[in-house]
Amino acid sequence: MILAPLRGVTIRCFREVFAQIIGDCGFTEAFTPFISAMPGLSALSDRELAGVDAAREPVRLTPQFIGKDPQALKRCLEEVRAAGYETADLNCGCPFPMVRNKGRGSGLLKNRDLFRRMIEAGVEAMGEGKFSIKARIGVDRRDELLELMPVVNEYPLRFLTVHGRLARQMYEGVCDFSMVAEIERTSKVPVMRNGDLDWRGGKGMVGRSFIRHLGEREDIGELLCAYIEASRRELHGEKPVLGRMKELIAYWKDTPRWSRRWQLVKISRDLDELRQACVP
Ligand SMILES: Cc1cc2nc3c(=O)[nH]c(=O)nc-3n(C[C@H](O)[C@H](O)[C@H](O)COP(=O)(O)O)c2cc1C
Repeated sequence: MILAPLRGVTIRCFREVFAQIIGDCGFTEAFTPFISAMPGLSALSDRELAGVDAAREPVRLTPQFIGKDPQALKRCLEEVRAAGYETADLNCGCPFPMVRNKGRGSGLLKNRDLFRRMIEAGVEAMGEGKFSIKARIGVDRRDELLELMPVVNEYPLRFLTVHGRLARQMYEGVCDFSMVAEIERTSKVPVMRNGDLDWRGGKGMVGRSFIRHLGEREDIGELLCAYIEASRRELHGEKPVLGRMKELIAYWKDTPRWSRRWQLVKISRDLDELRQACVP
């Protein structure tokens, strides 16, 4: 089971503080939230990777990239490979209009030729069976990825992760698992299912159900304190730490245990107020 990349949530500091739990819950790998593959940018200077020793990560870490420049992608991948990462992934799923309208993320599904060249660059840089892509079933139509499967099938990918929603849906509505099944039947490479899976199932790529689970744990108070301290060491000032914590705790706001606490968390102005709201 792979921990899904959740930008702002399953970030490096989070993975370090929650490492033990990530392993205990059955994850054997984590993707980094996307890193920009742009000309002139070094992948290893990104906050997700700077100073990380790939060999010492608690679970295998697969860096994920977003971009639309095959040469820039290739260069980033060569960098991470030289730094000891064996696998890497390309984001073909980010649904935000600002990203997709510029042809990155899920926008790649709209440009068959560029989609092909990005995959080709990835496989060339990482080698056979070491490069994967993560996509939505489509942007506005449920058969867009299906139509691209002949392209996908040309390359020896590690796997294809499919989030069973359209980009247009963002994170709303339900996943179209019948389309995911059709893609599985068509694919020559393994398909990794994603979207609304429960981490207790132990399979596929899982994000939010694991995050929700953390809020139910007995030890969450101590974990949050540890996460606050680790974040303080990384970030400058309390404000960004506060923002990071609120983003995580928001996943628990509809649970019996957190619904009242959330009201206090939401209006906390500093970390003392936040701690009091979380660990009364
Ligand atoms: C806050 C947030 C940030 C995300 N960031 C990324 C990202 O950086 N890269 C990516 O491929 N998917 C990203 N996703 C999508 C998730 O990886 C995943 O595909 C989606 O949440 C569905 O899986 P889940 O229902 O198990 O969470 C993000 C989703 C959320 C909610």
